Amino acid sequence: METNKILESDGYVIVDSISSRANLLDLARSYGEIVLHPEADNEGVLTITPDPEKVIGPSGFAFSEKAIPFHTDGPGVSTYKQFQGPADLLFLWYKSAQISGGSPIISDGALVYSTLFEESPDVLLRSGSFLTQPNHMYTGPLFESGEKTKIRFKESGPDSYWDERTFDQFIGAVDKHKRVLPIRSGQVLILDNRRMLHSREKLNSEEARELHHVLVYSNPGTYSSGFRIK
Ligand SMILES: [Fe+2]
Repeated sequence: METNKILESDGYVIVDSISSRANLLDLARSYGEIVLHPEADNEGVLTITPDPEKVIGPSGFAFSEKAIPFHTDGPGVSTYKQFQGPADLLFLWYKSAQISGGSPIISDGALVYSTLFEESPDVLLRSGSFLTQPNHMYTGPLFESGEKTKIRFKESGPDSYWDERTFDQFIGAVDKHKRVLPIRSGQVLILDNRRMLHSREKLNSEEARELHHVLVYSNPGTYSSGFRIK
């Protein structure tokens, strides 16, 4: 499948012409098992529209109109059912995209890794500390090695695991590889959540926006997440 080849090489792919929630769920299920995480509905879909009442909460920043900093989804998850760690794939269906705001921004963890390896390799050994549900701190490596290397990250600022210098070096490498993706209504952005970091431009309060968010643990025979170190 062409979509899979692009996802495998680039870490993301944009799929056109998703016209319904059923289409989105069919696409997501074709990759593996949908995560029924606590904030999503009973089919695993989290609908995100700007909503001041939802800004407080674990995914609260998604409901604000502010820009969102780079992160991977669920970096603090250690296990979910039989699965290890955060979900492999993130599906973002832009039912209503904005023309002048809210574009997704991505940064490829494979390129971030290469930059850090060349310029500041000590950062690769750092751990991160991320809030999990239910509310306790997960502490573990930013880059997990295995058959493929996988990244997990959420910006919490310098803390006991991050001194200011290494934090700035990491964010510098992420920013170096950032790309804004123009996206239209009806498109789905599929991201490898164990390879790509994502963020979002500020929303334009003059325009409507509706995003549907689904996380998937991929079937290893269909798609294997992460990146190979060259
Ligand atoms: Fe996210």
